[in-house]
Amino acid sequence: MNILFIGDIVGKLGRKVLKEHLEDIIHEYEVDFVIANGENVTHGKGLVKEHMLELISLGIDVITLGNHAFAKKELFDYINDYDEIIRPANFHQEFPGKGSNVFKFENKTIRVTNLLGSVFMNMNVANPFDTLKNIVDSDDSDIHIVDFHAETTGEKYALGYAFDGKITALIGTHTHVATVDNRILENGTAYQSDVGMVGPNEGILGVDKEAVIKKSWTGLPSVFQVMEKGEIIFSATLLKIDDYTNKVKQIERIQKIF
Ligand SMILES: [Fe+2]
Repeated sequence: MNILFIGDIVGKLGRKVLKEHLEDIIHEYEVDFVIANGENVTHGKGLVKEHMLELISLGIDVITLGNHAFAKKELFDYINDYDEIIRPANFHQEFPGKGSNVFKFENKTIRVTNLLGSVFMNMNVANPFDTLKNIVDSDDSDIHIVDFHAETTGEKYALGYAFDGKITALIGTHTHVATVDNRILENGTAYQSDVGMVGPNEGILGVDKEAVIKKSWTGLPSVFQVMEKGEIIFSATLLKIDDYTNKVKQIERIQKIF
């Protein structure tokens, strides 16, 4: 089977490109199951219910989140009504929603887990290694895909190698920049530090560049605006999984500019 993992969808342009092209991409790559990171969907931060329903209607089976998961407060009210949404598993247990869930595709069970990194994230989260170990220890699904939403490649590699052979794939999100290190680790786990993003291609990580340059240069406060015009990048990773072993045969980067 083929699983498509779509990188962080950013704002209006991210939604637009999926509306116009996701159906064709699913067809072109013979995709069976779609996972997408949706923490930047609504104006760059968070996910309102209307946009979540739109993504599901386009063929996305599971939406993962990250540090901006609850930026739009309405997620607190609706997350428990939709099994398709996964928030970081290492958030405090007081947060509503699930951090890992199992889905069915034909005769396969697919677990999807979302985790937040602990390095440079400034968030109050539990240790991602311990959290994933607890999930893996009690897991009997056929396939287990982990979205590790984290800042540093070092932490991403450490988690990937620590669970090599114990999970099907670890795909990084959050940096919005696709890395060219897609590979299958020695014990069979497919790995990529970051899948990249779906959204504005002409700013800085999807945001209007002047404000980012000003803040980076001077330290003065500035308001970041998600870009709503211009070229759009679509970044995803395709996992081709062997039907007998449930292991990834091939991990392929997909990048398109619209
Ligand atoms: Fe993020």
